[in-house]
Amino acid sequence: MILEGGLIVFINAVAARLLGVGSIEAALGTAVTSYLPPADAQATVERIGRMMRTGEVMPANEYGVLAAPERTVEIKAMKWEWQGRPAVLAFARDVTERKALQQHLVRADRLAAVGTLAAGVAHEINNPLTYIQLSLQLIESALEKLPEMPEGVPDYIRDAQHGIERVAAITRSLRMFARADEAPPCPVDPVPVLDRALEIVGHDLRHRARLVRRIAETPWVIANGSRLEQVLVNLLLNSIQSLRGREDDTITVELCAAGTEHVALSITDTGSGISPAVRERIFDPFFTTKAVGEGMGLGLAVSKSIIDSIGGQLELTSTEGTGTTATVTLRAHEAPPKVVEPDPSIGEPRRVLVVDDEARVRELLGIVLGQFHDITVVDGGEAAIAAARDGQFDVIVCDVMMPGLSGVDVHKQLAAVVPGLERRIVFITGGTFVTDVAELVSATGNRVIQKPFDVEQILAAIAETARAAL
Ligand SMILES: Nc1ncnc2c1ncn2[C@@H]1O[C@H](COP(=O)(O)OP(=O)(O)OP(=O)(O)O)[C@@H](O)[C@H]1O
Ligand SMILES: [Mg+2]
Repeated sequence: MILEGGLIVFINAVAARLLGVGSIEAALGTAVTSYLPPADAQATVERIGRMMRTGEVMPANEYGVLAAPERTVEIKAMKWEWQGRPAVLAFARDVTERKALQQHLVRADRLAAVGTLAAGVAHEINNPLTYIQLSLQLIESALEKLPEMPEGVPDYIRDAQHGIERVAAITRSLRMFARADEAPPCPVDPVPVLDRALEIVGHDLRHRARLVRRIAETPWVIANGSRLEQVLVNLLLNSIQSLRGREDDTITVELCAAGTEHVALSITDTGSGISPAVRERIFDPFFTTKAVGEGMGLGLAVSKSIIDSIGGQLELTSTEGTGTTATVTLRAHEAPPKVVEPDPSIGEPRRVLVVDDEARVRELLGIVLGQFHDITVVDGGEAAIAAARDGQFDVIVCDVMMPGLSGVDVHKQLAAVVPGLERRIVFITGGTFVTDVAELVSATGNRVIQKPFDVEQILAAIAETARAAL
């Protein structure tokens, strides 16, 4: 288009369309600024003035257009001569898509960085969390030996344990956001997973709503138990947080078959519901309507990526003012799988080597496990190899991320030094935030226990590993 004194004297069809003018004729003789929002119009007047005065070629600039506020138009302009008079020649280009793509790339980049940071933080938190949990269990068993339990103490301990659960859930969600530990989906019984999720949020749910559980007989589902549990905890927390303190507030969890090949798990609340504008963004990472400190905006983003990764679907339907239903649909496992009950018994006392670079974790593990097994404690991979070479161990409980030799290195070296012993390693990990390491650990096929863990979990893993190796 060509402008003379700010008025359009020539325009082609494309430029007319970009400015949102009906036709070329309608555009002629009108001021170009009349199609722009006030701020952009003002900038245009200044740019044209400067170009006419100095003859300088202005770099391309981005403008909004009144007729289509969601689009961005890039205009490049230079001084020109039109029918013997000074004028401005301007080229307009629609750059909406390019801009969106750029923003997306910037965001994706930032998210990747945030993801790595998040996983690192989660990893650091899990170590102290592990020894808090172990200490708490020691306090509990010490108290049980007293003739009389001091009043209120069991409740305090339960509250502290609940706090640990919540922090652990946060670190798990951060790790999953960073997609740090992927495990392949397998057949899972959805009922205990659901019950465990309900147990985790029990503290928040109690006194706030009536819980209705509608559990039908269904096949097992293809999923990953701990990740599915995380999803259900996220959905339940959202439901609980949406409640408005009404007398008849209810949260309904329902499990039923969806056709012949799927199983649906749904959570319905009588909360605030979701407005259409918010609805569009609920799956965006870091999108939240909650106050600072109450929500990170990761719950649904993480949940969706988990469910997508196991070939399922996560959907939310909501009526503002009435409530919301979140539904997870998962593939059903064809044949009911053989039930293999993990043997919870501690088994016989074993000789166990504990390897962890974090002093408090290994010391407490030594004390706690020492009540059942014969324990040797070392502070790193090198010491572990030396101890394994000299000693006779039934099981090695080994941290994954350690300075010097990592858990994976220990596994590899043991295979050479004391062949067979590498299969008796139980890995304990606060989250391997380097994806390669996660893959290497899972490639060993050894048991992996996530920090923080409770005593029963680690005892069961030791017993199973010792038995399997016989
Ligand atoms: N059951 C629900 N009822 C009403 N609003 C909901 C419900 N579930 C999700 N939302 C809306 O979706 C937003 C995003 O949810 P999401 O779980 O991703 O993040 P968050 O709950 O805000 O924070 P975080 O889960 O990280 O603690 C919430 O802030 C809320 O506005
Ligand atoms: Mg949430």
